[in-house]
Amino acid sequence: MLIFHFIKLFQPQISVMYEQLLQPFELGPTRVRNRIFNPPHGTTLGHQGVVRENLIAYHLARARGGIGLIIMESMTVHPSYGFEDAFLYAGSDRVIEGLNRLGRRCRDEGTPVFGQLFHAGRAVRLSHDGSRPLSYSASDVPDERYRVVPVPMPQDMVWELIESYVDAAGRLADAELDGVEILASMGYLIAQFLNPETNRRDDEFGGSLENRMRFLREIINRSRARIGFDKTLGVRVTLDEKTEKGLSAAEMIEVCRALDKDGQVDYFSVIAGSSAAPDGWIHVFPPMAIAPGFVADDAAQLKQAVSKPVLVAGRINHPQLAEEVINQGKADMVGLARALIADPEFVNKMASGRGEDIRACVGCNQACVGHRLAHFPVSCIQNPLSGREHSMGKLQAAAQSRKVLVIGGGPAGMKAAVVAAERGHEVELHEKDSRLGGQVNLAEALPGRAEFGGVTANLQRELEQAGVAIRCNSLLDAAGLRAFDPDHVVIATGASTRLPEVDADDVDIVDAWSVIRGDTRAGKNVVIADWSCDWAGLGVAEKLARDGHYVRLLSGASVAGESIQAIVRDQWIGVLHGLGVEMTPYARFYGALDGDAFFQHMTSGKEIVCEQVDTVVTCFAPQANRECAWVEQIEGISVSWIGDAVSPRTVEEAVLEGFQSGREI
Ligand SMILES: Cc1cc2nc3c(=O)[nH]c(=O)nc-3n(C[C@H](O)[C@H](O)[C@H](O)COP(=O)(O)O)c2cc1C
Ligand code: SF4
Repeated sequence: MLIFHFIKLFQPQISVMYEQLLQPFELGPTRVRNRIFNPPHGTTLGHQGVVRENLIAYHLARARGGIGLIIMESMTVHPSYGFEDAFLYAGSDRVIEGLNRLGRRCRDEGTPVFGQLFHAGRAVRLSHDGSRPLSYSASDVPDERYRVVPVPMPQDMVWELIESYVDAAGRLADAELDGVEILASMGYLIAQFLNPETNRRDDEFGGSLENRMRFLREIINRSRARIGFDKTLGVRVTLDEKTEKGLSAAEMIEVCRALDKDGQVDYFSVIAGSSAAPDGWIHVFPPMAIAPGFVADDAAQLKQAVSKPVLVAGRINHPQLAEEVINQGKADMVGLARALIADPEFVNKMASGRGEDIRACVGCNQACVGHRLAHFPVSCIQNPLSGREHSMGKLQAAAQSRKVLVIGGGPAGMKAAVVAAERGHEVELHEKDSRLGGQVNLAEALPGRAEFGGVTANLQRELEQAGVAIRCNSLLDAAGLRAFDPDHVVIATGASTRLPEVDADDVDIVDAWSVIRGDTRAGKNVVIADWSCDWAGLGVAEKLARDGHYVRLLSGASVAGESIQAIVRDQWIGVLHGLGVEMTPYARFYGALDGDAFFQHMTSGKEIVCEQVDTVVTCFAPQANRECAWVEQIEGISVSWIGDAVSPRTVEEAVLEGFQSGREI
């Protein structure tokens, strides 16, 4: 007994804080080492429908990071929704070899792998050749997100689809994956059959709930017969589609009860939202405005109704929250999709008592969902290595330790300093302000955006860990530079705001950053002239509207916030609409006079006049800060420029360039 206590006391590696979370668990025949899974997420790391090394390296990083289970991204099953540029294609035997390699490599690291099978039905945004492809669904009910009118599937096509799922499930089993998940959630094809709003059929697949669930039931029962009972079979469901005409939670619970009774599935995985309309879609990839862990109560509800384990995902980005969900019995396993894109080492850090070192996802959606929906490999604004594991590999120690001076403590400079120090250089970081963070400090000051400040907090932690010397309130001059005597200088001085060159008389023209900082006060009637169409315009509009100003937001694009990730934008525009902000697109600002602000419609050329304006708040193109160009004149020092100091862009490019420059010194 004494020996046992001794061993426990001297095992600092094992965290007792997350005891429940770190317990092994059984999902049907698959034993997982802990209660945390990596939910399916499209990565765009496959190639022409098959796995390639990029995708293996991506999943291996998560498996090595200690995750209990990986459920791979949606794979398509039938040519009516093939799109091999975007999805792995389980409708062909070509998929087997790569899946087999991926599964084996991850299992060798202790992580079993399941595959997920999917058909979008009418939710089609992709194309094979630029033309709009036909889409198929239970009925010809149009969808609100892609404005598609689907072809109602003839009955023999429904049976063909069922067989395609079964064949695809068989291929995953042949590839020796540990399990198969059927996606019946988020308003995609199977959910379109389940929902009476989208299923108007009068054959054996429509009408009663029994009939509407026949498509799913046949897929599940036949897949089980094909893969046998030594593979896990699960189903992903949505209880709350968060949209007007979504399937009701009550019906979905009935469906799950029936499946549970059938005894063919080993688990239910719960998610929220729907692909059918923008309000539902926001909840599939919940941005930071949506509360962490918001699906946990849905999972708890389902757990009351079924006997099989229930999994949940949705904005779980901290170990404490994950543990809480498990401890409160709301779910049996918790999913971390974006949390692991941001930090593949999440589980290892948590398990070894280094929870505070986790680079928490801030729910910005920019480089993960944003890249995916634009057909690029997923990554993370905070972690450029994510999605680039294969091409960038591990950081190599520097051949020779050098003295590196970084000027500028925004995300670019911070990341460059971290990476250079991790590689063995002696690094000093100088920031002219009293705080690190640069423009992140502005973004986090906006209503509901405090979580964005996590970007700075995470980088600050990385700086401490890497042993970078930080000098704030330091406006560096030649003498200061010589005092450190660097071999290499990284210039990451960011950008400054500026006002547009327009005529103005009797109307205040101020910049958005100064309003956000609280340096400038706006009058009652505000017009926002938004050239940038990013977070600043939407954010300052929300801030001022909440403070009681009458706000008109005129954007120089087809929609306000066009430059930011679409889901974040859609959600934010909804908030602005609720606050009564008037929004006008295609507006080019050209001046203000005697209480009126003047814009020009960017295509018609006609004038847009805003009357009774006290203040015009401008979100105009920032200007790169190049005041440190003098460093280049000093002999014997190499110099690199990164981030907004080169050209103003976003945190993503700042961190990426910081990472790259730190790697190259
Ligand atoms: C880039 C990306 C792609 C996704 N693709 C899929 C998918 O293929 N199948 C699926 O069921 N869910 C998909 N999801 C949803 C996730 O599985 C998960 O439910 C969602 O991201 C919420 O979890 P999180 O807050 O941990 O990210 C995707 C999510 C992301 C971020
Ligand atoms: S890009 Fe943003 S939302 Fe996506 S993983 Fe990184 S921090 Fe999270």
